[in-house]
Amino acid sequence: MMKEMGLNFRFIDASKEFYDALKGVEDPEKKRKIIGEKFICIFEKVAKKEKIEYLVQGTIAPDWIESGDELRDTIKSHHNVGGLPETMHLKLVEPLRDLYKDEVRKVARALGLEVSEKQPFPGPGLAVRIIGEASPERTEIVREACNIVEKEIENAVEKKLMEKPWQYFAVLIPIKTVGVHGDKRAYGYTIAIRAVQSVDAMTCKYSDIPHTVLDTISTKITNALGDKINRIVYDVTNKPPGTVEWE
Ligand code: XMP
Repeated sequence: MMKEMGLNFRFIDASKEFYDALKGVEDPEKKRKIIGEKFICIFEKVAKKEKIEYLVQGTIAPDWIESGDELRDTIKSHHNVGGLPETMHLKLVEPLRDLYKDEVRKVARALGLEVSEKQPFPGPGLAVRIIGEASPERTEIVREACNIVEKEIENAVEKKLMEKPWQYFAVLIPIKTVGVHGDKRAYGYTIAIRAVQSVDAMTCKYSDIPHTVLDTISTKITNALGDKINRIVYDVTNKPPGTVEWE
């Protein structure tokens, strides 16, 4: 996408640094803060070398509203707001700060950007889709499950079996339950499927997914992930009282 847009970008693989910092950390707010700080620390290291002064972020209104302040409760520290370290050398530029997601999409459409219709993805990445510690092994599981959920839902939308959700993904619940694979006992984790309709990310309603589609997703995930996953559930919670992501 970035290549198509002619952007001059560099990919930095800092996965080891992130995983090391997240080792043993279970609290969702701690995870978010660690990820926010690591982002800035890595950006600053590169910026210093390349003499870069500015950090441009796509922060939007729900990010700072949910991150809280003296007047508002902290629902969750969005990595780009509440996750920022107290001292930062880069100057921050946030052109979309006061817009909501639907307004951002209008701007993107007016600019002719294809990315306008892309489903949102949380800044802290798959770490907020793994309850508790985000290890490399758990990330691989949730990545594969998200991939299957995305593919199967997009297939169903194409076949006109359902309306396209605003956002759709998988969540790993690392609590083991008993199951059976063939004639062998299984003792694996659970995957929750999450699909929601929203306009501005401030509220959402869970999507109506036909049972046949849920059935296909369930079979594909348990087939692909073997003995690691033996139970699939569908999240039927709106926001409020839930949030879109589980952490
Ligand atoms: P929640 O979970 O707060 O999510 O109901 C609302 C929308 O925001 C995305 N999200 C984030 N985006 N940094 C981001 O850039 C974050 O820390 C973050 N947390 C959640 C989420 O995917 C949903 O679209």
